[in-house]
Amino acid sequence: MKRLDLTRIRNDFPALQQTVHDDQPLVYLDNAATTLKPQSVIDTISHHYSSESANIHRGVHTLSERATARYEASRESVRAFINADSTHSIIFTGGTTAAINLVARSWGRHNLQAGDEIIISHMEHHSNIVPWQLLRDSMGIVLKIIPITDDGALDMDAYTDLLSEKTKLVSIIHVSNSLGTINPVKEIIDAAHREGARVLVDAAQSVSNQVVDVQALDCDFLAFSGHKLFGPTGIGVLYGKEDLLNDMPPDNGGGDMILSVTFEKTTFNRLPYKFEAGTPHIAGVIGLGAAIDYVNDIGLEAIAAHEDDLLRYATDSLSALTGLRLIGTAAHKTSILSFVLDDIHPHDVGSILDQHGVAIRAGHHCTQPVMQRFGVPATNRASLSIYNTRDDVDALATAISSVQEVFT
Ligand code: ALA
Repeated sequence: MKRLDLTRIRNDFPALQQTVHDDQPLVYLDNAATTLKPQSVIDTISHHYSSESANIHRGVHTLSERATARYEASRESVRAFINADSTHSIIFTGGTTAAINLVARSWGRHNLQAGDEIIISHMEHHSNIVPWQLLRDSMGIVLKIIPITDDGALDMDAYTDLLSEKTKLVSIIHVSNSLGTINPVKEIIDAAHREGARVLVDAAQSVSNQVVDVQALDCDFLAFSGHKLFGPTGIGVLYGKEDLLNDMPPDNGGGDMILSVTFEKTTFNRLPYKFEAGTPHIAGVIGLGAAIDYVNDIGLEAIAAHEDDLLRYATDSLSALTGLRLIGTAAHKTSILSFVLDDIHPHDVGSILDQHGVAIRAGHHCTQPVMQRFGVPATNRASLSIYNTRDDVDALATAISSVQEVFT
């Protein structure tokens, strides 16, 4: 296993080369909110806007042909990255949220009826709760929730008990953005398929730190965002099995998703264009391709090993601090550490850490049910990525001790 060249990697990220608040070096530990962008991604987007800014699929001129080729090359990069069998299965969306909403509106309305059940878990991001509640309220489908154990894992016995012939979809987060838990998605998918249910995997928090292979998983849908993968904001991917996508009605109507339009009748374009109405986020797609190249160049297995090492180090380091409680200590987790400090509100902690140059997130992390489960209004969350070091963890621990001193 090759080790990460952290000096080189840190030099790839211009945002890390700055200081904040009286020359404190930036310690960026908010990677679950969004990752920083390497120079190669920034340069690719800049090159697109400066040299090939044109619309795609429409023009006959050179710039349009170049932009179209780069856009479709990114689709192929995404296909290979998640090992889909066809680029027809790769739909570009505005992000994970847009991808899940697309499935809810298009697949859900087309395939579900009142009384059908959808299973989600207690650790879902709001983006994998609210779209199904909207369906529940408009169609009368039933939502069932897999509980979380005290250490932040899914209660798999409860999951098995929830499954029945009424289950039509299981929509599950792969890695919890607030707890770090890595869920056993293969086991979840196989159990759902035995009941004839479809499975959507929210991979927003997993694609940046582990190999996600849609054919090995055999998931029916999978969604992820570019911005948690060192790519641009406002771009994401919906993967769907081709037969399912073919059978689904378009979600948005407009340009590029049609073959012909008369006032009497419109015929729709083939996959994947049927789901990409209007001028898409071309620079975002091209930037996402560059981000995938960057990750592939480093290697996901090496990234996973690095983050695992950091997680162990950080868990030991934070656990040694009195008055600190880690929330989310499942056996299988990624390098996300949610914690609370006795009698100190997370927002105060986050603000004081910021004064020390340490950027974390304080809040509910778009997972209010997780906060309710653990009886806290919010947590502090340090989320580590490829460019973080043990020194960053030491800076976090020192800054937390300073917070505690302020409040004694
Ligand atoms: N979902 C993002 C987070 O976890 C915004 O912070």
